[in-house]
Amino acid sequence: MSLKKRFSSATLLSVLALTPIGIFPADVAAQKSVSPVAPRRELVESVVKEAYSKFSTDTNGKNADYIPYLAQVDSKLFGIAIVTTDNQVLSMGDVKYSFSIQSISKVFTLALAMQEMGADKVFQKVGSEPTGRPFNSPLAVVDMQTHTGNPLVNAGAISTTSLISGSDANAKWNKILDFYSKAAGEKLQLIDEVYKSEAATNTGNKALSYLLAKYDRIYADPFESVDIYTKQCSVGVNAVQLARMGATLANNGVNPATGERVIKAEDIPHILSTMMMAGLYDGSGGWAWTVGLPAKSGVGGGIVAIAPGKGAIAVFAPPLDEAGNSVKAQKVIEYVTQKLNYNLYSPSSVGFK
Ligand code: DON
Repeated sequence: MSLKKRFSSATLLSVLALTPIGIFPADVAAQKSVSPVAPRRELVESVVKEAYSKFSTDTNGKNADYIPYLAQVDSKLFGIAIVTTDNQVLSMGDVKYSFSIQSISKVFTLALAMQEMGADKVFQKVGSEPTGRPFNSPLAVVDMQTHTGNPLVNAGAISTTSLISGSDANAKWNKILDFYSKAAGEKLQLIDEVYKSEAATNTGNKALSYLLAKYDRIYADPFESVDIYTKQCSVGVNAVQLARMGATLANNGVNPATGERVIKAEDIPHILSTMMMAGLYDGSGGWAWTVGLPAKSGVGGGIVAIAPGKGAIAVFAPPLDEAGNSVKAQKVIEYVTQKLNYNLYSPSSVGFK
């Protein structure tokens, strides 16, 4: 059903009467150049508001606790942010709280690796096959022909991080952090407590790294690579920053707030297809079935989903399901995607009646 059909003028009037939420003054100017496919602000605003009240009391799921810091984070924190390709920013809830990006970082290190050495080389060195196994599975490394799986599971991500060039570990880490900051449109920072907490407990990732070495699928020192990977997972983002990183992907690699090209346009399809296949790990099939948008989760409680050409939605809520994906974030994104008709596989999302 088209947006026009779903919203009669009476509905539109009632939507316009809603109190605006989280409108950032800097975005008013940006609204003048309207993207042909970016959704109407009033509509997005009302959908975000509905989703927030519908799911704010949901208490399902449990904080990650294998990284001790994450077990202490307030489970009730809940924030939703949408950034559109024409730089409208709509947000609600705890959207200033800085949480660790965790596995969502893997998407951007993949983008950086492709920028440095070309997509073909990355594909050859890491591959892009869904594992159907938990994100930290050593069995996937042993069993799969590629041994890495894909750049979004821990093994493939550590392998991808090991591809980033630099004179030493610090130079590589700073390059990664700068790249993430460009995608977010502002300087991001390491949450030192998260890094320390994870570095003290990441024996499983160290084991994965050495297992990759056995199969010649790690391209720098295994311990150095795990350490840089642990730092990239400990970068702090709030929901708006994360949505802006997603909107950079939705906007063909150009950050909609700064106008800077961050990711090569030719790399976008590789990134989004990998997110669709593996972004929610062994929950990715169900996600594609119900939501139909490329997305990536992190055990910090964030999920970002990309509506190409339109925008990105980021949700932060710490309690996770068995696969390590935020329960509330999945529900909110599913709801918003249906309401805004964003599902990529839905014929009506591209104009069929
Ligand atoms: O390596 C880890 O286990 C964490 N730093 C990241 C895992 C993660 O976020 C999985 N995501 N849902």
